[in-house]
Amino acid sequence: MCGIFGCVLHEGTTAAPLIRSALKRLEYRGYDSIGQVTVNGGRLYVKKDRGRLEEVHSKYNLDDMPGSVGVGHTRWATHGRPAQENAHPHVDCKSRIAVVHNGIIENYLDIKRELEGKSHRFLSRTDTEIVPHLVEDYIGQGLGLVEAFRKTVNRLEGAYSLVLTSADQPRTILCARQESPLVLGVGNGEYYCASDISAFLPLTKKALVLEEGEMCVLDPNGIKILRAKNGEVVKRDLITITWDPESAKKHGFRHFMLKEVHEQVQTIKDALRTHQIYYDLAASKIIGSEKLFIVACGTSYHAGLVGSLALTRLAGIDARVVVASEFSEEALDLVNDRTAILAVSQSGETMDTLNAIRDAKAKGASILSVTNVMGSTMMRLSDVYIGQNCGPEVGVAATKTFTSQVAVLLRLAATLGRKTGKAPVEKIDELEDALHRTPGMIEELLNTKVESVRRIADSISNAASICFLGRGVNVPTALEGRLKLLELSYVPAIAYPAGESKHGFISLIEEGFPVVFIAPPDETHKKIIGNIMEMKARGARIISLIQEGDEEIRNLSDDVVEIPGSLPPLATPIVYVVPLQLLAYYLSVGKGHDPDYPRNLAKSVTVE
Ligand code: F6R
Repeated sequence: MCGIFGCVLHEGTTAAPLIRSALKRLEYRGYDSIGQVTVNGGRLYVKKDRGRLEEVHSKYNLDDMPGSVGVGHTRWATHGRPAQENAHPHVDCKSRIAVVHNGIIENYLDIKRELEGKSHRFLSRTDTEIVPHLVEDYIGQGLGLVEAFRKTVNRLEGAYSLVLTSADQPRTILCARQESPLVLGVGNGEYYCASDISAFLPLTKKALVLEEGEMCVLDPNGIKILRAKNGEVVKRDLITITWDPESAKKHGFRHFMLKEVHEQVQTIKDALRTHQIYYDLAASKIIGSEKLFIVACGTSYHAGLVGSLALTRLAGIDARVVVASEFSEEALDLVNDRTAILAVSQSGETMDTLNAIRDAKAKGASILSVTNVMGSTMMRLSDVYIGQNCGPEVGVAATKTFTSQVAVLLRLAATLGRKTGKAPVEKIDELEDALHRTPGMIEELLNTKVESVRRIADSISNAASICFLGRGVNVPTALEGRLKLLELSYVPAIAYPAGESKHGFISLIEEGFPVVFIAPPDETHKKIIGNIMEMKARGARIISLIQEGDEEIRNLSDDVVEIPGSLPPLATPIVYVVPLQLLAYYLSVGKGHDPDYPRNLAKSVTVE
């Protein structure tokens, strides 16, 4: 999730300071590197480096770049660590074409090999850099700039918003989008493009939306939108933006957390876009080890629990999950140079997790990691890492980073399943297919069930405690529902494997005690029905997350949230956790708390 801003201003105006101030408003989308390009006097001016906007500006003076046309980019690394050569924009061999990009190009390796075969020289490790070179290549074959760009876009697979400037058409910007966002702003004879409207809101309230599969040409004559597939011109009406700058940053949602819950429709897709090569590398390290520990804290620990169960079921691998702060007590004695550590941390900076990694590394273990922050300390300590590709998470409570961690860990387990041959191929195929269906299911859930979750939250707003129960792979989902709820609403909450609840917890149950069951129709269904009856018989208020149409559990429950569509059991936590995130959110808001900044908590815990 990077941030892009581009502008075509009146001739004689300087674009660079405007680009920098727009990038400031986009920094929440990513901030590991910054870059700007302007066009003037028949050449491109490029400044870029690793670091936050103010750092890079104080080093290079980003305002001091001539020209009234230009583009800026704030990066959140996916391919290639944060470094000057990987910062955008990227240019072609002759530095005549510059491109910035938000998204992931899945087939970049094939295209890169093809272009290298034609003597194109690449300077970065990014997927983006193939774009200016491919455009250059098509121009070399006699195509004009727009047609060369259109042809390039049609070669790309994956997600992208792309913005291109060229020294040879100095008053023109070209854009294209597929899955990643890009909006267009119409000023007074001046034109803008940006990842979201918050970037140009102080400049204009008039906007055009670029739809999937479209590209556009911005020049002093205005904005022309084309269908990338066939070059057909598309007519689009202007819209007027009514959001204030603060709500624009949150895309109109009241809180970042709610925005991030909704973003999961996209972030899971992005998490699943990481090239298979990373999974294969991680898998071969695991196969080459005698022991595997998964190490993490908080929400990442819950993702690790799902991952461990999947590794057992699909690959016959016994992965012990250890809370990072307990690692040295619980596991370090067992670590040696035949051990693999799989660390899970969205920030990649959690001190407890880093300490565990350092201790294990000192004993010769291989370090694998799953993280959302490329360039983080954890990534740098790792032999192999897999990126989550979620973009920055602003809300302190982890939401979109949890579902993307689970998606990545399930794909890793599927990769290991194929390599070890321990599970039927059809079962692995079914899981991989299901992972790609989860974003659509979450979208439907968010379109149809938010009101019912809000109503349930209202109805339990005075509860002194709330309990979450699940079985199998949804024990971690229950733990995650509990963590979200207690950290945001400050209501003491409890979570158990449902079968374990009768060994003690059940004594708390009295009339009206809310118990939330995570109850998809998997192999635990019959047993969980038994647990529901035990609780119901003692007066508990039963709230169940069920698959649509599960009449048996619906009839036993006081409230249900119906999850649309069916999934193989291992994939269920990705979708079933979403109502629990919403439950915690609405309970917190209902109590007058700020769910984005719960008391006593920090986004990244860098102390022991
Ligand atoms: C809970 C939450 C925390 C983090 C934990 C680990 O909503 O956000 O429990 O999951 O502090 O953080 P990372 O994943 O950055 O290591």
